[in-house]
Amino acid sequence: MKRISVIGTGYVGLVTGAGLSDFGNNVICTDIDEDKINQLLASDIPIYEPGLKELVDRNVSAGRLSFSTDISASVKNSEVVIIAVWTPMGDNGEADLTAVKSVAKMIGENLNGYKVICTKSTVPIGTGKKIKQIIEKTSGGSNEFDVVSNPEFLREGSAVKDFLLPNRIVIGSESEKAQKVMKQVYRPLFINETPIVSTNVVTAETIKYASNAFLAVKISYINELANLCDTTGADVHIVARGMGLDGRISPKFLHPGPGFGGSCFPKDTHALVQMAAEKEVEMQVVSAAISSNSIQWQKITKKLDILFADSLEGRTVAVLGLTFKANTDDVRQSPATPIINHILENNGHVKAYDPEGIDNMKMLFPDIDYCDTHEEAVNGADGVIVMTEWHEFRGMDLKKVAELMNGNIIVDARNILDPKELKRNGFIFDNVGRPNVK
Ligand code: UDX
Repeated sequence: MKRISVIGTGYVGLVTGAGLSDFGNNVICTDIDEDKINQLLASDIPIYEPGLKELVDRNVSAGRLSFSTDISASVKNSEVVIIAVWTPMGDNGEADLTAVKSVAKMIGENLNGYKVICTKSTVPIGTGKKIKQIIEKTSGGSNEFDVVSNPEFLREGSAVKDFLLPNRIVIGSESEKAQKVMKQVYRPLFINETPIVSTNVVTAETIKYASNAFLAVKISYINELANLCDTTGADVHIVARGMGLDGRISPKFLHPGPGFGGSCFPKDTHALVQMAAEKEVEMQVVSAAISSNSIQWQKITKKLDILFADSLEGRTVAVLGLTFKANTDDVRQSPATPIINHILENNGHVKAYDPEGIDNMKMLFPDIDYCDTHEEAVNGADGVIVMTEWHEFRGMDLKKVAELMNGNIIVDARNILDPKELKRNGFIFDNVGRPNVK
């Protein structure tokens, strides 16, 4: 088993570090953020991710996982160094590589023997080459090293499961030696016959963008079909099922809604288009998915406006779900943001509730009315809009919701409420692409 240091204890770095220690490796997770490391040393997980605390605690207790701010020492002490720092979206849609480059420089300065330097951060195609040049320069060529691209495919909310039981592992490196080292890092999965795609760095980097952009295209496609179903009377769920049973299509990621959000799809689709444009290649399909997604939230606000007879003025709307999807506290690029803005711009009043996302949403909307339960949010509301597919909302007692509300309007932007039950409880409602069940 390998001695590994993971640089960056964000959501990817922390799940990766904890997961690799669970595979039997000796892992130090490092970060320049002292507060974060102190929190982790106190067994406090800075993000909401189901199963992560148990995974971290188990491996800390077993002595395989530790945390430190001393990045230089942990690099010196490791055979494999994993770069998992953030790559935010720059002004023109490109990924900002400042943190990756500074980590590469620091690795070069501390190179004291052969090491595998592996990128987990989603980096533009061609970054592996740049990392290699930086390390060569700063290390002065004194020691051997290999660069590997090992993209992550973790979904927030199921990242632990995705890490421990992945569909595939992609290892991009021109070096046979590095490929072998990485197979040892993932040894339990290798033994388990998890498919491993061994390729070169640039192909591995491309697989990451290609996968995320494809899924984003799939979502925009089903969203547009749902918009069509809204006008034709077809039911988009049955359309999706009818399509998905074809093995060539697959039923996954065919769930319509208010548009994709989060820290990956919006950023990665833009970055792919931008990278291709630099090479004078047009990514028309991905560009269309981005543009379709940018207006999908408006289809939802239009439904709200219609049900409120075009006047939200003075009306109270309970927004249920603030995160970009269920099982996370992440509100980055959440479709709830433009929806709340729309209600406020039209002089409506927002009562907001989310099982995990309130603290983060408070940074964007400090002045809206936050509630501790969904019952409190719907109490006295004229309308309700369900923005996130939390189980809690699926299981809401609609009779009670109807009793608590002042009005009877519901927009279900995730299609998680049973239309028959909504009707039975006297709601006037709309959802996404299921017009025939109203
Ligand atoms: C994604 C990728 O799935 C993961 O492999 C990659 O490593 C990181 O980016 P994540 O952003 O956590 O993961 O969430 P995901 O479950 O993929 O959902 C992304 C967005 O698409 C969410 O806003 C979600 O609500 C939306 N979505 C997803 C749909 O609207 N419909 C679907 O059918 C699926």
